[in-house]
Amino acid sequence: MRLTEQVHQHLQYTLKAGDVAVDATAGNGHDTLFLSQCVGKAGHIFAFDVQLQALEAASLKLQESNAPAATTWLHSGHEHMLQRIPKSLHGKIKAITFNLGYLPHTDKSMTTKPETTLTALKAATCILADGGTLSILAYTGHDGGREEAEAVKLWCKTLNNHFDVRIHIPDNTRSSPPEWICMVKEGASNGL
Ligand SMILES: C[S@@+](CC[C@H](N)C(=O)[O-])C[C@H]1O[C@@H](n2cnc3c(N)ncnc32)[C@H](O)[C@@H]1O
Repeated sequence: MRLTEQVHQHLQYTLKAGDVAVDATAGNGHDTLFLSQCVGKAGHIFAFDVQLQALEAASLKLQESNAPAATTWLHSGHEHMLQRIPKSLHGKIKAITFNLGYLPHTDKSMTTKPETTLTALKAATCILADGGTLSILAYTGHDGGREEAEAVKLWCKTLNNHFDVRIHIPDNTRSSPPEWICMVKEGASNGL
């Protein structure tokens, strides 16, 4: 099974109808649509991207696919997550997904970067619900991708034991396979 399918399988297991989820890197909206289908019409999705063209493409994709959940599109860096997600929902977000890197066929300088990614991940651990999943798919083949994946894994080691962290690296012949860092928040914790 491909890594992206494994991510979706895990999210499908985690999310229930009516849940709230965050797509931290909307891109073309594949993950946003999947999250929407998992939480259904009683649920809500917040989707971040720094590129307007990504948000427009993602929004169109969800419209064309009759995505069930209401979606709040945020033209903003995910590093502002703590301020952009309503306070009343902090501690109630059941899944937050990051798909790091750049949007294929667009400006490669608009890639995610370690410093802002780590700021966003720290915020994500604070707003995640107990039992919620923080999923990070890190691509390592492009400039800076390996460094970003290593920075995320190093940061995971600094977390307290309220997080169950699993790192999945496909056992294949590609020299720079994508890596999936899957974190489940286990209990009462402020995440830092
Ligand atoms: C690999 S793509 C995401 C693919 C997406 N999940 C999909 O289904 O198509 C990474 C996205 O992250 C966005 N991005 C880069 N830096 C960001 C930041 N600081 N905050 C939010 N999004 C960012 C890029 O614009 C790009 O669209």
